[in-house]
Amino acid sequence: MSSTLSEITDELAALVAAAEEEVGAVVDAKALEAWRVKYLGKKARLSVLSREMGSLGADERPAAGKVLNEAKARVQALFDAKKAELEKQPGAAAEAPAIDTTLPGRRPRAGDVHPITKVYYEVRDFYLRLGFGIWYGPEAEDDFHNFGALNFPEDHPSRDEQDTFYLNDGLLLRTHTSPVQIRAMKAVEPPLRIIVPGRCFRSDAPDATHYPVFHQVEGLYVDKAVSLAELKGTLEAMGVYLFGPGTEMRFRPHFFPFTEPSAEVDFTCPRCGGEVCGVCHDGWVEVLGAGMVDPAVFENVGYDPEAWVGYAFGVGIERLAMIKYGITDIRYFYENDLRFIKQFK
Ligand code: DAH
Repeated sequence: MSSTLSEITDELAALVAAAEEEVGAVVDAKALEAWRVKYLGKKARLSVLSREMGSLGADERPAAGKVLNEAKARVQALFDAKKAELEKQPGAAAEAPAIDTTLPGRRPRAGDVHPITKVYYEVRDFYLRLGFGIWYGPEAEDDFHNFGALNFPEDHPSRDEQDTFYLNDGLLLRTHTSPVQIRAMKAVEPPLRIIVPGRCFRSDAPDATHYPVFHQVEGLYVDKAVSLAELKGTLEAMGVYLFGPGTEMRFRPHFFPFTEPSAEVDFTCPRCGGEVCGVCHDGWVEVLGAGMVDPAVFENVGYDPEAWVGYAFGVGIERLAMIKYGITDIRYFYENDLRFIKQFK
C-alpha cells in the first residue's frame, strides 16, 4: 500500500460523503443493490483498502484500521437505514408481482338499508306527512313509565302478558314504546301529535313469530276534539300507504289498560288479497293495537281529562315487514345472512 495515513483518511472521508449523497437518490431495491455493490461489495474501494491494510507500516496500521472501520460502519449504517425505509413502503418487497393494470377492478360491496329500517322509514314518512313529530325515549325504563302510569294495575295479570326483562336499580327493558307517551305528555303541554320509534324487549323464547328484541312505532295524538273516526281514517290511510290501493281495515274490540275503547287492527292480506296464504290465516293480517287514550292516563301525566281527548296506537315493525315481504320467520331479520338481507334492495 503506497498511500500514507493522511491520504487514506482524506480518501475515506470523500468516499463516505459520496456514499451519503448517492444513497439519497436511491428509491427502490434495485438501486439500493447497485449502491451496495459499489460501496460495500467485494470490489468496492472499502474492501480493497481493507485487504491492503497489511502492507501499511506497523506504526500507521492501528490508526488506519480505526478510520477504515469507522468509514465501513458509516456506510453500513447508511445501507441499513435505506433498506428499512424502503421496506416500509407498501409494495416494496422485491418479489412483489407487478400490478396488471389491464385486469378489471374488484367492485366494493355496497351496504344497504336493513328491511326493518326500510319499513320503519315508510311508516315514519306517512306520519311526517300528516304533521306528526318524532319523539324518542330510553330503552331502560322504570315500572312507572312502562306500566304504572299507563294504567296497568299492580299485580294485574296483564303485566305478566309482557314477559319483562328486569334490570338492577328498579329498571326494566321497556316492553313496548307506550312509556314514551307518558314521557312526552309530562314534557310538553297539549296539543301533541307524535310518533315514537324504538326497540322493545320481552323475554320470549325465539320462534317463527317471537323474538326477544323487536321494534314498534307508537303514535299519540292529543287535542281538543280527536275522534275514534279520525283514528280509523288515519290507520286506514296508513294501510293503503303501506300495502297498496284496495287494502281494507277492520277493528276488533280488545283490551289495553291505557286506551278505552281499545281495538286490535287488521288489514286485508296484501300477499293473497283475501285468500289464505302462509302470511295470513284467514285473509286478514293483524298489524297493530290502538284506542282512545284512557282518561286515567291523562290524570297520571297532569293533563285535564275533561279538556283533552286523544288516540294512540302501536305498530309492530317486524310484523309489518313480514307481511309486506312475505317472510314467515321473524328470526331471519336478525341472522344477518347476506343472502337474505340483499333481497330488499
Ligand atoms: N303497547 C301495546 C303493545 O305493545 C300496543 C299498543 C296498543 C299501543 C294500543 C298503543 C295502543 O298506543 O293504544 O302490545
